[in-house]
Amino acid sequence: MKKFITTPIYYVNDIPHIGHAYTTIICDTLARFYRLRGDDVFFLTGTDEHGQKIEEAAKARGKSPKEYADEISAKFKALWDEFGISYDHFIRTTDEYHKLTSQNVFTKMLKNGDIYKGEYEGSYCVSCESFFAANQLIDDECCPDCGKKTRLVKEESYFFALSKYQDRLLKWYENDKCVLPKGKKNEVISFVKGGLKDLSITRTSFEWGIKLPKELNEPKHVMYVWLDALVNYLSALGYTRDEERMEYWNNTLHIVGKDILRFHAVYWPAFLMSLDLPLPVSVAAHGWWTRDGVKMSKSLGNVVNPKEVADTYGLEAFRYFLLREVPFGQDGDFSQRALIDRINSELSNDLGNLLSRIVGMSSKYCDNIIDSTNVNKFYSNELESAKIHINQALISLDEISPNRYLEELWKVLNIANATIAKYEPWNLVKNNKFDEANALVALVANLLARVAILLSPAMPQTAQKIADTLEFEINTNSYNELIINSNLINFKANATTPLFAKIEHELMAPAPVAKIDEIKSKDEEIKIDDFKKCVIKVGTILECDNIEGSDKLLKFKIDLGEDKPRQIISGIAKYYEPKSLIGKQVCVLANLKPAKIFKHLSEGMILSAEDGSLTLLGTHASVKNGAIVG
Ligand code: MSP
Repeated sequence: MKKFITTPIYYVNDIPHIGHAYTTIICDTLARFYRLRGDDVFFLTGTDEHGQKIEEAAKARGKSPKEYADEISAKFKALWDEFGISYDHFIRTTDEYHKLTSQNVFTKMLKNGDIYKGEYEGSYCVSCESFFAANQLIDDECCPDCGKKTRLVKEESYFFALSKYQDRLLKWYENDKCVLPKGKKNEVISFVKGGLKDLSITRTSFEWGIKLPKELNEPKHVMYVWLDALVNYLSALGYTRDEERMEYWNNTLHIVGKDILRFHAVYWPAFLMSLDLPLPVSVAAHGWWTRDGVKMSKSLGNVVNPKEVADTYGLEAFRYFLLREVPFGQDGDFSQRALIDRINSELSNDLGNLLSRIVGMSSKYCDNIIDSTNVNKFYSNELESAKIHINQALISLDEISPNRYLEELWKVLNIANATIAKYEPWNLVKNNKFDEANALVALVANLLARVAILLSPAMPQTAQKIADTLEFEINTNSYNELIINSNLINFKANATTPLFAKIEHELMAPAPVAKIDEIKSKDEEIKIDDFKKCVIKVGTILECDNIEGSDKLLKFKIDLGEDKPRQIISGIAKYYEPKSLIGKQVCVLANLKPAKIFKHLSEGMILSAEDGSLTLLGTHASVKNGAIVG
């Protein structure tokens, strides 16, 4: 069966973070699973490079939009390559073939009577690249999606006749799988039932976008970035061009974040209806990640860098954590503690120890040759229970529930571990029940092999190591034999090293403690009374030392003119040599709630200015310690 699976294409105004890695790893897991099952898969990812947001981000850095897009797009591609993401094609919306398909799509929709010229007057959120009606705004001017200030726009524009598709869309939502999970589908349905307005699909107030088809002779207009972006799914399959491979289109799965579901479950199917193309089989929306319970943002400096996590804790453990930690569709929280707990209990204990025990037992009882002849005779109940969980796992993945998929696989591991504990093979051997003992080793080896086959899409290297240790293959044949037909096979066990080492303490510097987590955007206005809540004092640094085990943190003792110096932990070790700071005066947010950072109490925050590098804030002339900044 041919299958098309896509990630959203990522904006190039930001380097890859955990949210991007999450979507990409889910898609990679699904693509690998479908291939394992024998499907012919086309897995697409890429970057979204046009629009006002990118134009402005490039300008702020003194670069041309294309130069800037080249730089960031390359970072996404390099990270996915380093992570071994099995994409078949990486699309960039600045690629010529994509521009051509976008123009062809525009022409087709125009010919079908779905595009007309008018004037757009209303609010636009540059951050979301989205139009809003006045009654949708928060406080009369802010974006209902991201909270940032919108801009008033009045410009000539082409419109797509979205309103025309309202009933057909509602009909489509009756289809069970079209939008997943179900709760999210209900939100989409109420949005559409609220009434659809025609959509402005061209802009004239900036230049960084795809030009309209030449025949229209409209040099001022560029395509709305969301039309351009959504069409990527078709241009990658060669739509309207010579090299079409649209066979994949009939079986399409889009994975997206909840924030962009409206674009994929409302606008996109309407565009496709206009083009007379089949609609995707499913658009599945996942939730958002926070860090240690706090929303991630560049200004808070708490964005989880996926490369740092993978380099520190291992890519396979990171993949497992992302897939297992949150029910698909719900928001999730990244914390090092939660990751470490999963590594220690599920990966090291449940999975890794099981492999070591199989290798140990087989070398003691059966010369490493694991023969499955008697498994059914002694352990048919265990086999039967495992089969139920394997089937449930397959159903879960079909419903795009990778967390439940992994949970079911772990239930199979639990059966294996519990059976060893229950029958104690060492006692069976002591009592001369050799057949039973050998069958037990063969049972657990078969269960582990089944888990490894199904784990291979999520943790390809770990699964391969298990397969190499027990000498079996992971491919479509073994999938059919062991998973679909539940056959038993024989193994030869080889010596191996532990799959996962236990981790004692957090290995990365903690996220900065942020009191400012309620602040929605840098530009948000506050009243003077809000500012007065912050007590900022000048103090002299008395001591400054590195913190053992962290290359980011420094521990300060600062005299703020109080009874005793304050201890403050700050993540600035990269920027300063500790001894060079002693005697310097700095500004400190003094009424920040104390918090423990890396096991050390921190009683305030040292203020600094960031512009790529970092400088501590001080005063022009020396002042008394404890002087108030205001
Ligand atoms: N360019 C558009 C998508 C166009 S698809 C035709 C876009 N890009 S994005 O880079 O801003 O976001 C890409 C994906 O990352 C979205 O699915 C979004 O939900 C996801 N995430 C961004 N931040 C996230 C978290 N903090 N957590 C989880 N995913 C989040 O939107």
